Amino acid sequence: MIIHDENEMRTLGRELSRTLKKGDWVAIDGPLGAGKTVLCAAIINSLGYVGEVTSPSYAIVHNYDPPDLPVAVAHADLYRLDDVAELDELGLFDESAERITLVEWAERAGPGYAKPSHHVTISVEPDGSRRVDLKLGKDDIAG
Ligand SMILES: Nc1ncnc2c1ncn2[C@@H]1O[C@H](COP(=O)(O)OP(=O)(O)OP(=O)(O)O)[C@@H](O)[C@H]1O
Ligand SMILES: [Mg+2]
Repeated sequence: MIIHDENEMRTLGRELSRTLKKGDWVAIDGPLGAGKTVLCAAIINSLGYVGEVTSPSYAIVHNYDPPDLPVAVAHADLYRLDDVAELDELGLFDESAERITLVEWAERAGPGYAKPSHHVTISVEPDGSRRVDLKLGKDDIAG
């Protein structure tokens, strides 16, 4: 699908948030500035978190826990990851069945490390709009 602006990306995040459940692992890939954090922030806010969601690019993982929202969410950005072993130290895979995990730059974890249940791939079109490809669980939603 084509997402024309940030508002449409936030709407998509709101729609996606309704389909997510505990244990889901969402890989969000796309180039710098594609809108990955905009999408994650919309998901986390739509799940009930009322504060500002900032990019986890420095901390690598930000955790959002009840009672701030009904379900725990880990929001990660692996862009600055030096070594996949760091993911163990950060606990990204611990108790992932008990929360929703949103991972920007998931491709940096390398093949075989993470097994996302959902894939979101964003690319930037020549006119600046974003093409979003969704693979949700077993269902592929055509772009
Ligand atoms: N269609 C669109 N969807 C989402 N964001 C858009 C769109 N058009 C323009 N933007 C702008 O692009 C920027 C996207 O920034 P964002 O931090 O979400 O990117 P990112 O993919 O997370 O980048 P990074 O790889 O650095 O984490 C925002 O400034 C947003 O306003
Ligand atoms: Mg980001």
